[in-house]
Amino acid sequence: MMAERQVEIDRVEREWQHLSRLVDPELPGWSRTGFSDADRAARDWLLRQMREAGLEAVQDAAGNLVGYLEGDMPGAPDIVIGSHSDTVPGGGRFDGIVGVLGAIEVARTLTRSGARLRRGLRIVDFANEEGNPQGVKLVGSRAAAGSLDAHALGSTDPEGVTLATLMERAGLRPDEVSRARWKARDIAAYIELHIEQGPHLEQSSAHIGIVTSICGISTFSLDVRGRRDHAGTMPMNVRQDAMCCAADAVLAVREVAASGAGAVGTVGQVTTSSPLTNTISEQATVTGEFRSPDLAALQDMQARFAQRTAHLDELHRTQSALTWGHFDAPTPMDERLSRLAHAASTDLGYDTLQLYSGATHDGVAIADLAPTAMIFIPSRDGRSHCPEEWSDFEDVERGINVLLETVLRIDASL
Ligand code: GLV
Ligand code: MN
Ligand code: MN
Repeated sequence: MMAERQVEIDRVEREWQHLSRLVDPELPGWSRTGFSDADRAARDWLLRQMREAGLEAVQDAAGNLVGYLEGDMPGAPDIVIGSHSDTVPGGGRFDGIVGVLGAIEVARTLTRSGARLRRGLRIVDFANEEGNPQGVKLVGSRAAAGSLDAHALGSTDPEGVTLATLMERAGLRPDEVSRARWKARDIAAYIELHIEQGPHLEQSSAHIGIVTSICGISTFSLDVRGRRDHAGTMPMNVRQDAMCCAADAVLAVREVAASGAGAVGTVGQVTTSSPLTNTISEQATVTGEFRSPDLAALQDMQARFAQRTAHLDELHRTQSALTWGHFDAPTPMDERLSRLAHAASTDLGYDTLQLYSGATHDGVAIADLAPTAMIFIPSRDGRSHCPEEWSDFEDVERGINVLLETVLRIDASL
């Protein structure tokens, strides 16, 4: 077993406590949604932390915080580490944040120990990984990868507010996101430390997970049109009840997803324009998503769900329009980087597993630019995207140690 370089985990925990207070008081849980006031306050504070850690740090046009530690080989492609500090509404305190604070601590530990890297080290806090009411996920990492296009920036929330407007309101320059774009030739590797958000590491008593691939994801919105009629007088067998069609569509999501290995399907919201019990719904909207480790299986779920909704229209005498939103293909992690991270973890004496990620991550966008790998630590009871989300700081420390050691090995080997 090799000696661990001394990560200051107490300091990381104090920073985590501070960030946990920078949340939206109006929302439940630990909410710091992308481009909100709380998100802005947290980013201002994190930018200062990066600078105090000796990094040259800036916020780019998309809201990403990027800190830089110079290496000894000017012009050599950088190693990039980091994650995101935004949360889902009603979320927890570890998703994303562990990877941002962990990356800053890696830079500090290197500087403290006098270790010099050959390559520059980029520390990043990607803006709005979790998505927004406009339905766009991975906003900052897409901007860095050059895939945050006009279509994404023009996506609207139910009130018609575009993502570009949301970003402008947060003091950003969406018209200049192309300036936030990274060049593939400047990046040697991207490695992200994250919590698992599922139960596998805990169930196998493993300390560290090395991710094999990140799920593919396809979101949808189903708009169902029925006919408004009196709920007391219209017989059941002639109704055009949009709400009943929507309810069957919710169950169809479950059935379609149940048939694929590793596949999942979830409905997030059902709304109606006529929420009255004495009136039959003339309109209902169902929003949801499918995920799968396998591209063909994901596409097959899309096709089968479309067929099911057409069939439900016949059954309920309704008319539905199915719109597909955000789509990401499953993203395999780089094998060479993952092997390095795995060896770093086992050499540190940690029980290490390979596992698939059912959660999506900024690495999906960045994998288009550079070899990408992910390091997971256990989540208590597999809980995440909820206020109870928890990871022990002993595990956070192990994760940071693996991240640091992986950075050193990449630097030595590339
Ligand atoms: C983010 O955590 C996601 O998986 O959607
Ligand atoms: Mn996350
Ligand atoms: Mn998340």
